[in-house]
Amino acid sequence: MDAFDTASIHAFLDDDNRAAFASIEVVDAIDSTNSELLRRRTPETGVVALFADTQLGGRGRLGRAWASPPGANLYVSLARCFPGDLARLGGLSLVVGVAAAEAMRALGASGVSVKWPNDLVVDDDGLRKLGGVLIEGGVQDGVPRAVIGIGLNVCMPADAATAIDQPWIDLRELLGGDAPSRASVAASLLASLADALARFDADGLAPFLSRFEALDALRGAQIDAVVSGHAASGTAMGLAPDGALLLRTDTGVQALHAGEVSVRRRAGSQPRASQA
Ligand code: BTN
Repeated sequence: MDAFDTASIHAFLDDDNRAAFASIEVVDAIDSTNSELLRRRTPETGVVALFADTQLGGRGRLGRAWASPPGANLYVSLARCFPGDLARLGGLSLVVGVAAAEAMRALGASGVSVKWPNDLVVDDDGLRKLGGVLIEGGVQDGVPRAVIGIGLNVCMPADAATAIDQPWIDLRELLGGDAPSRASVAASLLASLADALARFDADGLAPFLSRFEALDALRGAQIDAVVSGHAASGTAMGLAPDGALLLRTDTGVQALHAGEVSVRRRAGSQPRASQA
């Protein structure tokens, strides 16, 4: 098993990136890193990062479980305050997806893209999921704070994979058979996220729209969406300025907002040419 602790992650970070974090902690086992950071107070400045070697109750979006076997993958949550209006956190999930995908590409996983709103996927005759993002939070002492959970498949053991009910991929396969060390992947992810969160805090979603477009796994694809229990089908047209997914349907263009939709690409439809 690879060395995976605070010191080994620090070794891959430069001073500026280290300084962005109030703390970087690695625990052996926990129910869920998101749940733990929601239980804790978030400092007013800096980012807190909590990794777990394994999660005993890892949580995904829409109430799903997140397979979290030990010694295998990355399970991390970041907590950060964002002074101002809570509504401005609306675009955060896209920002996190973009920053995480860019970090994976920088590691050599050039085929990684983002399936709106924030799944990390690889198009391999259908989308296979590399990672997912679960953002929670609310207001702490009048200040909005976000807890950003990221699960990333690095080297998924075969026995744990049987519990996964959708096509998946891990970095080991993507990088040609050799799994990178979790500490190096963790540091790339942290560095990219620290920069992105600071930029989002200062400038909002606007700087990330073109970055998302370069990584958009759905643009041009025929998709089925479920919006508040109603089905809608059409062509994914990219993002509105507020981060909504634009869907061209028979009756016009609809803007789909995060939290209201689940999106599945229809079998046989093709996304835009690969962005590798
Ligand atoms: C998804 O459903 O795609 C989101 C998965 C998010 C999983 C991560 S692992 C670290 C953090 N802790 C959790 O319990 N969930 C998130």
